[in-house]
Amino acid sequence: MPGDATDTGRGLSRRGFLLGGAAAGVGAAVALGADRLVGAGAGLPDQRQAELDAAGLNGARTVTFHGDHQSGIDTPIAAHATYLGLRLLERTDREALARMMRVLTDDAERLMSGEGALADTEPELATVPAALTVTFGFGPELVRRAAGAAAVPAWLGPLPAFEIDALDPRWSGGDLLMVVSADDPVTVAHAVRMLLKDSRSFASLAWRQDGFRRAYGSEVSGTTMRNLFGQVDGTTNPEPGTAGFDAVVWCTGTGATAWVSGGTSLVLRRIRMNLDTWDEVDPTARSFAVGRRITDGAPLTGSREADAPDFEATTAAGNTVISPVAHIARSRPVDSREVIFRRGYNYDVAPAGGGVSETGLLFASFQADVDAQFTPIQRRLDEADLLNEWTTPIGSAVFAIPPGCAPGGFIGETLLA
Ligand code: HEM
Repeated sequence: MPGDATDTGRGLSRRGFLLGGAAAGVGAAVALGADRLVGAGAGLPDQRQAELDAAGLNGARTVTFHGDHQSGIDTPIAAHATYLGLRLLERTDREALARMMRVLTDDAERLMSGEGALADTEPELATVPAALTVTFGFGPELVRRAAGAAAVPAWLGPLPAFEIDALDPRWSGGDLLMVVSADDPVTVAHAVRMLLKDSRSFASLAWRQDGFRRAYGSEVSGTTMRNLFGQVDGTTNPEPGTAGFDAVVWCTGTGATAWVSGGTSLVLRRIRMNLDTWDEVDPTARSFAVGRRITDGAPLTGSREADAPDFEATTAAGNTVISPVAHIARSRPVDSREVIFRRGYNYDVAPAGGGVSETGLLFASFQADVDAQFTPIQRRLDEADLLNEWTTPIGSAVFAIPPGCAPGGFIGETLLA
């Protein structure tokens, strides 16, 4: 079972990390990603950690850095995430890339364990890791410079153009991705600064996107998030630690792209949500647009969030209860292979001009193959999806996420060593 550290071979977590599944209709609490979460990073006794948990304190929690996969994918999702997109400097060649990834790996490893980075100017800020994770991703240009065009997976590159897109280069593309997430925004800010300082002789910041979910302790862990439309968002998602999750998320590359085996891909879409026009819509129409009730996330054909939607059920008038162009009718996978793992965050920034809000979703999905899994879903949504009335993709980026590494190794070594 995923929560039992003795099964994982890593032997890291004695306590397990319980995610209450009740709110998702799962009933009993489920252990999730426990092998990656070291509650007692600095040897905190179980009893002390239990006291901190009871008091709602989370600052001492650490997620282990090393493993087959990078952290920040199948590990419990934290309240804050900052996505950083960097462009490589002209002079950054393969040898420099290896140096850069060694340094950044060392930073991530230290910061995630609650230590300052090597040349940390504010090491005091590193002492509250709050489940910090740092996840690295590579864009096509980085892979090309590292190992030539043959090493670039076929799915790594800009997505096809979609009719609904109004992409802004300010939020698109990038050579190196760093995703810094933690339950404490001060921890995130400090880690972001350290990582950017150590990458600046190799790359410059192209964009930064900050996202948030409910604060740690505001809700039972594992409660499906609500996005800023008020929708329960993330119900139908593969569960980390299951064979189904592993099959759709982790890559199995061969030949020149074997370096990405055990890694995955990330599609990051910045999707603006028009709250002004959404505000005009009543709850019935809001629910109809998704095919799930706005109040509790249950499908229109069911009564609880966890109920499976019935896309065949009809009304007395003979129409399907869930519209064929409702968001879940269009986005549901056509087969078991087309499943993606969504791990989104809300954003809310200052509006331009006289607007009240500039709000949306940092839609992030992990999948083994972008072309086979993400793109067909996005294509269907592009053709028809009631939600399109209120949403506009304004940024888009695709990254290869290399596998994790063992102590002494570095992220990207399968490409760069
Ligand atoms: C701002 C944009 C979006 C919003 C507000 C949104 C919202 C939602 C909501 C409320 C649900 C139902 C609950 C759930 O299962 O999570 C859902 C389901 C889903 N969405 Fe989205 N979504 C957005 C964009 C996208 C995009 C761009 C994709 C992929 C291309 C996508 C793929 C999915 C999938 C695969 C499901 C689950 C379908 C199922 O099997 O039932 N969504 N979304």
